Amino acid sequence: MIKKLYFRAIICLSILPLAVSGQTQNRRTHVNFDAGWKFSLGNASDPKRDFNYGIGNIFSKSGETAGTCIATDFKDSTWTNVKLPHDWVVALPFQYVKNDDIDSHGYKPVGALFPENSIGWYRKTFTVNKADSGKRYEIQFDGVYRDSKVWLNGYYIGGHFSGYNSFSFDITDFIKFGQKNVMVVRADATQSEGWFYEGAGIYRHAWLNSYNNVHFKTAGGLFAHAEVSDGKAQVTIEADIENRGITATEATLYSYITDRNGKIIATGKQLPFTEAIRENKKLTDEMTIINPRLWSLDDAYLYRAVSLIKSGGHTIDSVNVKFGVRTFKFDSEKGFFLNGKPLKVQGVSCHQDHAGVGSALPDELQYYRITLLKEMGVNAYRTTHNPPTPELLDACDSLGMLVMDETRLLTSGQEYEQQYRDLILRDRNHASIFMWSIGNEEYATHRTDIGKRIAQNQILLQQQLDPTRTSTYAANMGNVYRGVNEVIPVRGFNYNLSGIDGYHKEHPLQPIIGTEVASTVTTRSIYVKDTVHAYVPDYDVTFPPWASTAETWWKITDARPWFMGGFAWTGFDYRGEPTPYRWPNINSHFGIMDMCGFPKSVYYYYQSWWTDKDILHIAPHWNWKGKEGQPIEVWVNTNADDVELYLNGKSLGKKEMTRDGHLVWTVTYQPGKLVAVAHKKGKVIAAKVETTTAAYRIVLSPSKKILLANGEDAVVVNATVVDKSGREVPDALDLLHFDIKGDAEIIGVGNGDPSSHEPDKCSTGQWQRSLFGGKAQLIVRAGTHEGNVAIVATGTGLKSIELPLVQKLK
Ligand code: GAL
Repeated sequence: MIKKLYFRAIICLSILPLAVSGQTQNRRTHVNFDAGWKFSLGNASDPKRDFNYGIGNIFSKSGETAGTCIATDFKDSTWTNVKLPHDWVVALPFQYVKNDDIDSHGYKPVGALFPENSIGWYRKTFTVNKADSGKRYEIQFDGVYRDSKVWLNGYYIGGHFSGYNSFSFDITDFIKFGQKNVMVVRADATQSEGWFYEGAGIYRHAWLNSYNNVHFKTAGGLFAHAEVSDGKAQVTIEADIENRGITATEATLYSYITDRNGKIIATGKQLPFTEAIRENKKLTDEMTIINPRLWSLDDAYLYRAVSLIKSGGHTIDSVNVKFGVRTFKFDSEKGFFLNGKPLKVQGVSCHQDHAGVGSALPDELQYYRITLLKEMGVNAYRTTHNPPTPELLDACDSLGMLVMDETRLLTSGQEYEQQYRDLILRDRNHASIFMWSIGNEEYATHRTDIGKRIAQNQILLQQQLDPTRTSTYAANMGNVYRGVNEVIPVRGFNYNLSGIDGYHKEHPLQPIIGTEVASTVTTRSIYVKDTVHAYVPDYDVTFPPWASTAETWWKITDARPWFMGGFAWTGFDYRGEPTPYRWPNINSHFGIMDMCGFPKSVYYYYQSWWTDKDILHIAPHWNWKGKEGQPIEVWVNTNADDVELYLNGKSLGKKEMTRDGHLVWTVTYQPGKLVAVAHKKGKVIAAKVETTTAAYRIVLSPSKKILLANGEDAVVVNATVVDKSGREVPDALDLLHFDIKGDAEIIGVGNGDPSSHEPDKCSTGQWQRSLFGGKAQLIVRAGTHEGNVAIVATGTGLKSIELPLVQKLK
């Protein structure tokens, strides 16, 4: 359970609206558009079952969509009510199909082989007050998987190819003020983009934005960045202002900086400008912060840059962005420096899905996951292999986690150059981002001249849009200097660490980072290889041919100051890429934590060497009925100086710990108590595992006890069972049932079992999930009413529990 409280922004976009008193007609708004959608699957191969899409003449005359579900009068009452974020794939059953794409996506029946599951239609009805006409309106989606098309009141607005980038469309011309408006979105997941679970649908937030005709652009409208020297931060503010009105406008730009409490600490100049019709104006201002408080991993301090456009004596638009003041240095001899201090990158790569909810994570889960990673000692997160949701970056900004932000493909044709541009413009204010990644393991391209030209193009684009950072590329090759590697500012190594010394010697001026390392495979709570259930032992021993143990890569990394560190594959298990097995295994084993964020043994290896905490952990558990008299391999992960192990009071010997290592004993099993006693710089620390008796009662542990009644907040509730003495039963597999009382809902369940085919969603009216290795998890989403909420868990032969939570309006 997470003890630390963390700050959570409710409105989570880099550009936040600012209330302008007395000028409500010009006030910028950013309204959450998640509620009230209707959803239906269509069909990619049968136009009739796709609501006549493909046979209706929707593109022959503007706004004419009769006979299709795009038509405003289409009756959608039989469609399912959904609230965004929504991933329709997570609710589909698992299905075995011998096909690489299906296998790598986690055996969900979606994609070209399943046309009946691959088109998603969404409809939403909304109104905009008559009094609010005269402004510009924009619909913003932070991620729709994928190939989406958007209509408003029957008018085609635009399409978006990527399943990962945010996008927005101006919809002003098509709004019926004071009347019913119907927005329709078609998402087509027929063609996948990745080789991992991707989900499908409007799986991130949607927003309805409004602003003055003369306004800051949504993508890149305000960029605030700082250079630090001599105890001062020189802050540059770059504004990109657009005029969509029908008259030229005389205006003034004025900016200031506040601390996080809103106190103004630096003010800019009044910058007059004339904005012609349809002009894009770029203006720059500079300010100084004396003795700036630097953003760091332990003090993730964020300043605010506020910019106003004033015209005719009024403020006609204003935005407020968070930014951090910090310095990065990438040194080919000394490694990476944050704020002038050397920092080894203790990173993880992650995909975006989580147990129970697939790709549609409530914001709270982003904070939950980043907090878990920080507790383990992780200081950097790589967004493999796609743009993340903005809320993930908000969590990293405010909790203090560096980010390598990665675009989907290494290519620079119009579509993908635009994707990289959109990513940088959207994300460049985020304090946490220290590097961009132009792609990952592009075998057909990366050693070629084409690869080199693409890389040059993308690097120049990045330097133009964000000169404050640098780029890398995740190259799966050893000591090779061809193609992308000839031009990339920071050389990324995916695996192949035997090549780093030679590469460093031959290219001493190019900093090097381990963009992807480890890929160690473990199954939480399983200590013996099991090819029937497709489990691998929960010790740091198993890895595919290209990969290594955690200890191997970390020892190499820790011993080389010039090697900046690396990103272990992966922080959490994710759906898809079952390795080293196939069906019945449906999700990866690469995670240091499982799909729910429950730690595996290897977690304690990293925690020992990545934190200053006192770590002493024994694996396995001590419930081995039937194995009496047989040898059991016992691993101890610790950062203590020495450890003595005792079984039922009898010493099994003392061992010295070496840096970056682990300790092993072979112990003849007898039930009872296995105790480790360690010395760390003169201090004594102890840990134990104990044979338990049968599971007796259920325990629920929530990530927090108070929910915000905003219909969006969420709480993670972990379930386990304990014996009569209150000891957690680590091998329990009991089936638990869950109910909820009050205005909140369970939106998903999981248990981290990589071969479980139990549904993550409720299909029968009764939420349930088996424990795996003694644990399961529920994700609960808040309702909108103040009051008490209770989560009830029951199980056959187990004492049930009712967990009280409180839901508050503020
Ligand atoms: C890498 C790849 C990752 C994942 C990983 C598994 O080569 O970049 O996406 O597939 O292998 O080990």
